[in-house]
Amino acid sequence: MSKNERQIKVSPSILAGDFGKIYDEAKRIEDSGANSLHIDVMDGHFVPNLTIGPQVVAAINRATDMFLDVHLMMYNVYEYIERFVEAGADRITFHFEATEDVKDTLDYIRRCNIEAGLAFCPETSQSFIPKYLDSCDSILLMTVHPGFGGQKFMSEVLEKIAFTREICEKLNIRKGGVTPKNKDDPANNLPVFNIGVDGGINYETAKECVKAGANQLIAGTYLLHSHDMKEEVRKLQQLVP
Ligand code: DX5
Ligand code: ZN
Repeated sequence: MSKNERQIKVSPSILAGDFGKIYDEAKRIEDSGANSLHIDVMDGHFVPNLTIGPQVVAAINRATDMFLDVHLMMYNVYEYIERFVEAGADRITFHFEATEDVKDTLDYIRRCNIEAGLAFCPETSQSFIPKYLDSCDSILLMTVHPGFGGQKFMSEVLEKIAFTREICEKLNIRKGGVTPKNKDDPANNLPVFNIGVDGGINYETAKECVKAGANQLIAGTYLLHSHDMKEEVRKLQQLVP
């Protein structure tokens, strides 16, 4: 695979699963062949919904060996990082809008030896994104207002996806926010920088996001409520930019 080829990664969101059978739902996601498992943490303040805390993340971690992609929709992120790391998070993504010390928080997550991601709400200006690209492992662009599953995709975010990918390509920012120093730098062989999209993703909206530059697709309702999650995951993984 050429270094520029974007391999599409799929992350089913367990929020759309049956919480009474969370262990089975984690297994079902693992069996689907998905690349990671997305966990939505909501605090009832930053967003008007309450969901999962570190204890439930730990339970999911016992059920599966998958990469746990923990999406924090909450305030006071810094205070909770350690608990989510102990619970088994492999990446913690928090919101730009919910955090004053964005850079410190990204650095702290990385010092915990896991990936750090930064999420942006649909209405937040794209002009805030470039500053953080080399301090994080992933940018998450919300394609709905965070808080609930099952909402309608907001196509106005496509422009922000394209903008973020364009900057990454222009500055040659690769996986982990690494910018190779010269043309012989081995970092040139790293895969592309991770740009995820989250909210209202189905086959049709996924196609548009991938075309715009996203390489990670997070989907709850579409995948967990489908008849054949394995087949839907495979179809999304095969999308080409
Ligand atoms: C929304 C969450 C999403 C949600 C996606 O606030 O961050 O991850 O689970 O659900 P669907 O795919 O149903 O929009
Ligand atoms: Zn999410």
